[in-house]
Amino acid sequence: MNFLELMQQRYTTKRYNPNEKIDVEKIEQLKQILNLTPSSINSQPWNFIFIENQELKTKLAGVSRHNTQRVIDCSHLIVFNVINNLDFFEKQISENLPDAAVNYYKTFLKPLPEEEVKAWMKNQIYISLGVFLTACASLGIDATPMEGIEGYKYTEILGLENHLTTFAVCIGKHHEEDTNQLKFHAKKRIEKDKIISEI
Ligand SMILES: Cc1cc2nc3c(=O)[nH]c(=O)nc-3n(C[C@H](O)[C@H](O)[C@H](O)COP(=O)(O)O)c2cc1C
Repeated sequence: MNFLELMQQRYTTKRYNPNEKIDVEKIEQLKQILNLTPSSINSQPWNFIFIENQELKTKLAGVSRHNTQRVIDCSHLIVFNVINNLDFFEKQISENLPDAAVNYYKTFLKPLPEEEVKAWMKNQIYISLGVFLTACASLGIDATPMEGIEGYKYTEILGLENHLTTFAVCIGKHHEEDTNQLKFHAKKRIEKDKIISEI
């Protein structure tokens, strides 16, 4: 399947088969792929938590709004957390990035209001979502990106100190009755020519 076909056939899974688990090798690949996500000045203001434990998934399902059942049934839940402590972030980049990148942060980003710096970091974590969903499609893994969760409660349950949960993704194998499969529910997008132009 070429890349266009891959994007045409991927879709957001709404119901999982609870008996199907993703192989350890594929999970390991996903971890490596996430870690390769590009970000501005290579800032990497994030961490990612893979959860297979059913008890913890069920606890998080309770604070996952309309996504509850998918979180219970999926093979793995991946939680995407962005740094929300700027001192922690500066320490992390000072220890890991070249001086030029750290100086760029100190000169152009640090002087901005805190909310803008945090918004910049949040922009970066969404790049990892794009990479992750594409990787899932190429590995034949079904996925559900979810902003519809209570991020502050996830943060509390997971005991995060310097990060805040931004969104989570369920992965696994769809249930045969998943109503969002393309055979039941054709993919819809605004017409390409209304969105993309050439000048
Ligand atoms: C950032 C983001 C958040 C989303 N949140 C949810 C969610 O909480 N629950 C859900 O079922 N789908 C969620 N979706 C799925 C979108 O509704 C879906 O991607 C969109 O309708 C396009 O459909 P497709 O992914 O099947 O092509 C989310 C998608 C993205 C990218």
